[in-house]
Amino acid sequence: MTFPSDFVWGVASSSYQIEGAASQGGRTPSVWDTFCREPGRVHGGHTGDVACDHVNRMPADVGLIAGLGVNAYRLSISWPRVIPGGVGEVSQEGLGFYDRLVDALLGHRVAPWITLYHWDHPQAIQDRGGWLNRESADWFAEYVGRVVDRLSDRVANWITINEPQIFIGMGHITGTHAPGLELSRRESLLAAHHVMLAHGKAAQTIRERAKTPTNVGWAPVGAVVSPADGHESSVDAARELMFRVSPTEGNWAFNNSWFADAAVFGRYPEDGLRAFGSDAPEPRAGDMEQIAQPLDFYGANTYTGLRARQGADGPEAVEFPPGSPRTMFDWPVAPESLYWGPRFLAERYKLPVYIMENGLASMDWVGEDGQVRDMGRIDFLSRYLKQLGRAINDGVDVRGYFCWSILDNFEWAEGYRMRFGLVHVDYQTLLRTPKASYAWYRDVISGRGVSAEPCQGKM
Ligand code: FCB
Repeated sequence: MTFPSDFVWGVASSSYQIEGAASQGGRTPSVWDTFCREPGRVHGGHTGDVACDHVNRMPADVGLIAGLGVNAYRLSISWPRVIPGGVGEVSQEGLGFYDRLVDALLGHRVAPWITLYHWDHPQAIQDRGGWLNRESADWFAEYVGRVVDRLSDRVANWITINEPQIFIGMGHITGTHAPGLELSRRESLLAAHHVMLAHGKAAQTIRERAKTPTNVGWAPVGAVVSPADGHESSVDAARELMFRVSPTEGNWAFNNSWFADAAVFGRYPEDGLRAFGSDAPEPRAGDMEQIAQPLDFYGANTYTGLRARQGADGPEAVEFPPGSPRTMFDWPVAPESLYWGPRFLAERYKLPVYIMENGLASMDWVGEDGQVRDMGRIDFLSRYLKQLGRAINDGVDVRGYFCWSILDNFEWAEGYRMRFGLVHVDYQTLLRTPKASYAWYRDVISGRGVSAEPCQGKM
């Protein structure tokens, strides 16, 4: 399978997961620093204090990124590193770090793709109510403006927010991610409304203040549903489930359309409004227009998926057979998600699709001979990329793919036990060791595609 010559081949990371240097340069705690210090919240009591120490090892890490031959690197900016108070004064040292990072990337002809919010909300803002405070949207836009003023002469690609589904669902409903809240449905829907306002205001700010032409999108996640078999009725069933807001008691947030319909169509979907009833947010005049800013792309984070067919009472989910492949996170291996996900998203939202994250956690270690043989990762990525290629062949407008992640890193509530990197990190010595998958991905990029042959996983 050959990919288009202008395809964006990338690799991704996020600030809190790799940066460390938690109090360098005046950086103040994010909600994740606070959460990590609460007993029992994060596996093993791990924290992002040091993480991969990327802030102090940036030039070498950029060398590893460039060594892949990627033409894009998705990074995120730590708001409390740039504006330690959440609002107000900018830390020149904090912003200066990203300035140097951008220059280092460009020096290697790697385009920076910048995520403005990848969950490390300033604790200072949380102390003022966090996303429950409507002013959060303005504070976010203000911070975004400062970043855009400084970097947009060299940066064109912007991602407003990463996965509202997860930081609302796990951060504000189940309490398993920072800030660890278990809000009522009404309150969590209000927080989500403010997040969407923040997204819209940020998109507008980028367009108003950017010094060069911009490419603006976002990076949501949400269940990808594929047909369980070859019947046309299963395709319809999958599509219907993929865009259904499933307002089960508990976590309502892991769906596509509550967030995406607002962002793209400027309205919340009818089925959600019906189900949430009086818990649904009451947008003020102008809110929905503010949220629905024109976007240049839909950035989908896709790791796994569900399967569906038409049952007697409408679409129904179909379980994977016992013993089907699963990653270390226990997520089913579902390569067809990179076919049906982009296809359904492009069909509904009519935007070019970029896969903003895709990868897996696996049990990698450095062998006696110094090699990391992550054959499962090679097989996984190969299967997923073939499906993405099939989508492109069938005419779906997919323009890029970002592998998660360049380095093993701090995997949120799982701490350091889940390794997603193409490069292994020894957290004691901070030594980086490229895995077998690193060389494999480099060869995929230089050859512009994945061999149609079953993946051999050569070392
Ligand atoms: C996504 C997050 C990313 C990473 C991967 C494994 O939900 O956006 O930071 O943790 O999962």
